[in-house]
Amino acid sequence: MAELCIIYDKIRFEEKELYDKASKRGLNTRLIDAKSISIGTNNKKDDFDLGDIVLQRSISHYRGLYLTACLEFLGFLAINSFKVGEICGNKLLTSIKLAKENIPTPTTHFAFSSESLSNLIRKTGFPIVVKPIVGSWGRGVFPLRDSETANMIAELREEDDNPLSRIYYIQEMIKRPPRDLRCIVVGDRVVAAVYRYSAEKEWRTNVARGGRTEEAYITKELEDITLKAAKAVGGGVLGVDLMEDDVRGLLVHEINSTVEFHGASKVARTDIANTIIDYSIDAAKK
Ligand SMILES: Nc1ncnc2c1ncn2[C@@H]1O[C@H](COP(=O)(O)OP(=O)(O)O)[C@@H](O)[C@H]1O
Ligand SMILES: [Mg+2]
Repeated sequence: MAELCIIYDKIRFEEKELYDKASKRGLNTRLIDAKSISIGTNNKKDDFDLGDIVLQRSISHYRGLYLTACLEFLGFLAINSFKVGEICGNKLLTSIKLAKENIPTPTTHFAFSSESLSNLIRKTGFPIVVKPIVGSWGRGVFPLRDSETANMIAELREEDDNPLSRIYYIQEMIKRPPRDLRCIVVGDRVVAAVYRYSAEKEWRTNVARGGRTEEAYITKELEDITLKAAKAVGGGVLGVDLMEDDVRGLLVHEINSTVEFHGASKVARTDIANTIIDYSIDAAKK
């Protein structure tokens, strides 16, 4: 029987749900705090009692990513893999991957200094959207409507301590309804889709910004583009986010590698946690 390990740095609904459902199925399941682990180049897989499959659920992007690299070094199967986590945790890498695989996605530009940002903006004009290349919950995602605000953002970002701040991610602003779509993908299935409506006086639709979810019907078009996008970044257990452009239709703007599914589980076609466990067991057999 497969043995499962859920790595967390904070236990949310999702980690609890995965643990409870896996235990209920009789699987030997462990919940392990990422903050409690240390790994050395002289370690072997057997030094760690983690079972066959590691579900990487750390909220901290870098902690989860580099711990996954170490676990893969030891020979553990991690879901999601380091490769997938690296692409999805970085909006620049995700955007170029989606573009390369011809997945419809907003036009996005990258600049590597505040000077090249100014030159770029002279060409793109306004409105545009600026985002940190690593981040979530809508943090630092701002609409820019004039050069005064753009200069302010650039000045702040030139001075902070994060080297990634000097890499500018600038995206066309999509003319969309006050909502976007979140699809939960497990392997080759879209198990749930929700609309996320932005809260009052908030442009971003993130649930972390007060957005409210509503069930979305999974059309063939939505399913196709979502699965293609998931495949483009390497597949696994993913949250694919899309916007509805009034002319071009669905555009994928982000893919989340440690997906939250609390809201989506209320409207899901199937039990999301159990589907993730099934997928993990299958992956371990391959
Ligand atoms: N190009 C855009 N045009 C219109 N709205 C956008 C655009 N990019 C992001 N948004 C809004 O901002 C939210 C957060 O952006 P996102 O890229 O998903 O960053 P995060 O990883 O922080 O969630 C999106 O869910 C959407 O509501
Ligand atoms: Mg998002």
